Amino acid sequence: MNFAHLIQIKRDGQPLTADQIGALIRGFVDGQLPDYQMAALAMAIFFRGMESDETAALTGAMLRSGTTLQWPADAPERVDKHSTGGVGDKVSLVLVPLLASCGLLVPMISGRGLGPTGGTLDKLAAIPGFRSDLDTGQIRAITQQVGCVISGATADLVPADRRLYALRDVTATIASIPLITASILSKKLAEGLGALVLDVKFGSGAFMKTRQSARQLAVSLVATGAALGLPTRALLTDMNQPLGRRVGNAVEVDEAVTALAGDGPADLMELVLGLGSELLLMAGRAGDRASGSDWLRQQITSGQALERFRAMVSAQGGDLDAPRPVAPEWLLRSRAAGLVTAIDGERLGLAVVEMGGGRKRQDDQIDPSVGLEMLVRLGDPVQCQQPLIRVFSQPISRQRVEPLLADAVTVGDECHPATTRIVERIMDQ
Ligand code: URA
Repeated sequence: MNFAHLIQIKRDGQPLTADQIGALIRGFVDGQLPDYQMAALAMAIFFRGMESDETAALTGAMLRSGTTLQWPADAPERVDKHSTGGVGDKVSLVLVPLLASCGLLVPMISGRGLGPTGGTLDKLAAIPGFRSDLDTGQIRAITQQVGCVISGATADLVPADRRLYALRDVTATIASIPLITASILSKKLAEGLGALVLDVKFGSGAFMKTRQSARQLAVSLVATGAALGLPTRALLTDMNQPLGRRVGNAVEVDEAVTALAGDGPADLMELVLGLGSELLLMAGRAGDRASGSDWLRQQITSGQALERFRAMVSAQGGDLDAPRPVAPEWLLRSRAAGLVTAIDGERLGLAVVEMGGGRKRQDDQIDPSVGLEMLVRLGDPVQCQQPLIRVFSQPISRQRVEPLLADAVTVGDECHPATTRIVERIMDQ
């Protein structure tokens, strides 16, 4: 196979065939196609894009690079959710056990965070003893025993993605819709799902800054899922302020537990119920979204969802009742009076990284005890010197992060905040 010729085809903006894409991915995984050629191909895809059938072929080829989770024929339906990531996004911690308490299986393979948006596995690591380095057999066994699991990718699931993602990370080729689509969906397809819902976020606290770019990604994900036989829907959601009130690791676990106990913030619960009812509908477990949401609410009120979370944490070696670390707190106060007109989620996320709660590099250690509690929301009136954010940080980082945090909240005259988080639903055409 002449790989240079295939790279040239893409460089010149021509489509590759499914066979050619399959050969490239096989070559990459078995070492015939060196990293420098794969990096060149990724850059060509970044600039030239891919047709929808090329994206589907790339996703399928990546899926076939490893093993997949196999389930008994009589196992309950498997479902999952993927989020493109947002500041304060702890939806998975609430939704996964909630769906399991409705009798579905949720074998969630999740990731660690890099940059401002944080990662689900880092949040769970704030629970003493929790393990997210399970192997494929353990993931399957815990899912069948408890109904759900949240663990990291294993060495044998989609190895092509692990290697390609690492290359993309250092060659400025992450932000490509076909590459993101293939990366996300190959991993979700490997879970052996019957339905997938995507939370595609846009705004200051999300990877996609505009609704239009989020929409493009959502359409690509939904169409590719459908092309590969996985019923997939996406919700476009507004991330122009952190989701819920807490941002960090231990503090987000606390907020998720509060939500599972029935006292979650309204915006977090809107997403949990919206994404969850969509999956209940897709799995044929609810006749419509309203009855799906009612069922989910009942599972919270009855305590079943929290019990399921406790069981999952325990099966993964963690102790939900053990104290979670909390750094000393201080208050960031407003320098002006008026209305909160903007909250820069990315800046808040970067402040948490600066405090040690996130990573600048893949191998950075995380301090689970640091974080933020937002004391105001968009549109709230504030007085001068009123506390805006409760900050949990080691005293040494206060000087560094205080200016970042102060600039993240704008106090002005006029604000018309979005009244709902979910702004659009993308379904297969
Ligand atoms: N998340 C993924 O899993 N892959 C990407 O390419 C981007 C975000």
